[in-house]
Amino acid sequence: MTDSPAPLVAVVVVAAGSGTRLGNDEPKAFVPISARPMLEWALRGVFGMREPAQVIVVAPESKLADARSICESVVGVASSVSAAPMQVVAGGSSRSESVRRGLEALLPGIRIVLVHDAARALTPAALFDSVVDAVRATGQGIIPGLPVVDTIKSVDADGGILGTVDRSQLAAVQTPQGFPRDMLVGATAQARDDATDDAAIVASAGHRVSVVAGDQLAFKITTPWDLRRAQLLLGEQPVAPQAAGITPRVGMGVDVHAFDDSSPLWLAGLHWPGERGLSGHSDGDAVSHAICDALLAAAGLGDIGGVFGTSDGRFADAHGEVFLSEALRLVTDAGFRIGNVSVQLVGNRPKLAPRRAEAEALLSSILNAPVSLSATTTDALGFTGRGEGVAALATALLVPVTGGGARLNWEA
Ligand code: CTP
Ligand code: MG
Repeated sequence: MTDSPAPLVAVVVVAAGSGTRLGNDEPKAFVPISARPMLEWALRGVFGMREPAQVIVVAPESKLADARSICESVVGVASSVSAAPMQVVAGGSSRSESVRRGLEALLPGIRIVLVHDAARALTPAALFDSVVDAVRATGQGIIPGLPVVDTIKSVDADGGILGTVDRSQLAAVQTPQGFPRDMLVGATAQARDDATDDAAIVASAGHRVSVVAGDQLAFKITTPWDLRRAQLLLGEQPVAPQAAGITPRVGMGVDVHAFDDSSPLWLAGLHWPGERGLSGHSDGDAVSHAICDALLAAAGLGDIGGVFGTSDGRFADAHGEVFLSEALRLVTDAGFRIGNVSVQLVGNRPKLAPRRAEAEALLSSILNAPVSLSATTTDALGFTGRGEGVAALATALLVPVTGGGARLNWEA
């Protein structure tokens, strides 16, 4: 502990529920989102608050040690609040009982108490700050809420519609809910156990509670669908095999060949009569070779040097089509189809424009996918500018074939 002033604000994070509607084996607050427990995400919001607060985590009896280590890991990240005291206490059989137990741990100097559901794991720190500010400014209970967007019907037990509720008078309320300490502690002492939020308890004790603007990110994770939403918001990659099969893969390739006046020019799969040729073990077609490297890289199959060795007689003096067809076969065998390929030729000669469409059509037909070809010079700079050779740069997009599942071969 440092000599920073004792906190005036406390946050009780209730995390003792079982998560029946989520349906996981472990208690809800300990279910991972993007490889970190829900409680950890919730605490990151709490520890992002402007004002250091006492933090009381209410956890299931069986998870007290886990909750403590989660708290420690978050405090480690949020160094600005490491001086703030924190505690983990065991919860009860209802949310209200868990809140009551959390309140027993309040430090004497606390004036404002926020109660927060760990299940609202992505709640931004700014929402905590605005609730604290509003409690301080008004001396009232303050809860965040959002307008209700759906049309709401009241229905009977058989689903018969009794009426349409005027939604202009409704708010979907969230946490953190903040109160002057004595107001909340007093109301909670006499509360019934079926309340699903603290505002209901405080209001039924006769106090005024007001709604301030909530935040879409403060949604409660209740069902598997909500968990999925949180995972997606945190950028988690889909984990289902079917979903994994739709993640595309990108690869890039570069190739350079020097001009060789004794050879004919083959480039982008085409013969270019009257142009200076390029040297190489094969025909020196830098465009085709760069595309092969991009395709192999996207599939995780290594590179052209490793796959088409110079010792392999099939490739001596071979034209681009041979390499491209073989690369297509390899990536197809690995479970991919080609999305598209983009390749750029860098050099003074040959002038590409007159034969661009022809080259694109040929390359696209070999690969059975769209190939776009562009060209540029380097303003007389470097080996391409001096006319010593050409370079080609390619990018390829591969799409795993749904159902089959791509087989990545990192050893290749
Ligand atoms: N909570 C709690 N103690 C309980 C019940 C709930 O601390 N006995 C907490 C939950 O951990 C959650 C918050 O209250 O952070 C809101 O409750 P809810 O979303 O209903 O969570 P669960 O009760 O765990 O879920 P379910 O109702 O589906 O079982
Ligand atoms: Mg519940």
